[in-house]
Amino acid sequence: TPPDALALVAAYLLGSVPFAVISSRLFGLADPRTYGSGNPGATNVLRSGNKAAAILTLLGDALKGWFAVWLAAYSGATPLLVGLVMLAVFFGHLFPIFLKFKGGKGVATAAGALLAVSPAIGLATLGVWLGIALVLRYSSLAAICAAVGAPLLTLWLHGADALTITVGVMALALIVKHRHNLQRLIAGTEPKIGGKKT
Ligand code: G3P
Repeated sequence: TPPDALALVAAYLLGSVPFAVISSRLFGLADPRTYGSGNPGATNVLRSGNKAAAILTLLGDALKGWFAVWLAAYSGATPLLVGLVMLAVFFGHLFPIFLKFKGGKGVATAAGALLAVSPAIGLATLGVWLGIALVLRYSSLAAICAAVGAPLLTLWLHGADALTITVGVMALALIVKHRHNLQRLIAGTEPKIGGKKT
């Protein structure tokens, strides 16, 4: 129906807002697409050496995911529409209209969206990310492992419903977006969290 389509377009546009580029501009830093991994995301902004800019990126990208899903659920959308709004805001971040469709890898936005969908799934997924990030210090590996865990946990808690399928699609896209990180992890050349730009 028309209001549903409108909700999806609005979620996509919100997801398209690139907080890595915005916060870098606010802090007078170089565009994150020009250094490090070239990814417009919090991990790469951290390579600028400016922690505040990285935190603002993380919070902004997470909040937009959280807000879109929260608003959909709060307005009484069906579980299917909530799942589609989640995908719309997530794919907005991955393929943003404001950056010629070259966006980020979706970790923060997915985390925010999952927290709004289900605090239990969101917090458990966050726990996987944090555990691996703190112990092994690879942001990308933490994200890939969290992305493997999230749909399995959703399946376990919800069964094979619309939410599980949409979380699965999101996780799959996130992993595909990390394919170069995966190659670097295997080659042993992936930089650890907090390393400076190269
Ligand atoms: O948030 C993306 C992260 O998992 C990897 O970022 O810059 O190391 O490719 P990056």
